[in-house]
Amino acid sequence: MPKLEGKIAIVTGASRGIGRAVCDRFSDEGAIVVMCDRNEPDAALLHRQHFRRLDVTQQDDWQALAQEVSSTFGTARILVNNAGIVDYAPIIEVTPDAWKRIMSVNVDGVLFGMQAFLPQMIAAGGGAIVNVSSIWGSVAVPGAAAYHASKGAVRTLSKNAAMTYARQGIRVNSIHPGIIATPHVVDVQERSITDAVIAKTPMGRMADPRELANGVLFLASDESSFVTGIELYVDGGYTAQ
Ligand SMILES: NC(=O)c1ccc[n+]([C@@H]2O[C@H](COP(=O)([O-])OP(=O)(O)OC[C@H]3O[C@@H](n4cnc5c(N)ncnc54)[C@H](O)[C@@H]3O)[C@@H](O)[C@H]2O)c1
Repeated sequence: MPKLEGKIAIVTGASRGIGRAVCDRFSDEGAIVVMCDRNEPDAALLHRQHFRRLDVTQQDDWQALAQEVSSTFGTARILVNNAGIVDYAPIIEVTPDAWKRIMSVNVDGVLFGMQAFLPQMIAAGGGAIVNVSSIWGSVAVPGAAAYHASKGAVRTLSKNAAMTYARQGIRVNSIHPGIIATPHVVDVQERSITDAVIAKTPMGRMADPRELANGVLFLASDESSFVTGIELYVDGGYTAQ
């Protein structure tokens, strides 16, 4: 039996990388997937995948999306807040604009997504939210100050949402990727940081985005029905050291 048969799932940052892998994994399991991104998908959509252009920093657009999804498809039971951007500047060099840009996408976007979709999940009696943080939401490397701060905020905001809405049938968990082979990693200039993290990863390699998608599927599906407020690390053992 498919794990998400007929369930409506919202995924942000869905056009490439981890988000796309999550959408394809959800489709394998029978979900109707609303793929949200500010850019067009980088590959053709599969059966029951629907693209909606969304900039996660725009609260009004989130509210409009929630209404449109509800009237077009029905109640969303799954929300994956995955869209995120990185900046490698250390504290002394981070500019106010860069700080605000990172916080706006990585933190405001997660807040606005939960604000938009929680009411319909609560009204329907339940839902599962997965927020994508990072190993850098709980442990650190030098530099990337705004990114670390933003992913730490995603970690504790997820726990707060889990506590606040547990009695209404809502489960909220964060997932913490190590180094995953996506354009976010492969295109960056700061390859030396990526290589250093891979070298310190006990499993000695990057992950395929599908390995992260399997973790998101677990947290989004009823297989994790008694799991809320956790941090799931998909990091090849990096944070166990
Ligand atoms: N790849 C890794 O190694 C890694 C490690 C830790 C955490 N993460 C996190 O995983 C998530 C996905 O990363 P990825 O590697 O797939 O990145 P990616 O850059 O390959 O893809 C990110 C997607 O998000 C979209 N996006 C960016 N800003 C947006 C906005 N304002 N509104 C809507 N969509 C927007 C982009 O268009 C893109 O399609 C991010 O939150 C990232 O911080 C990734």
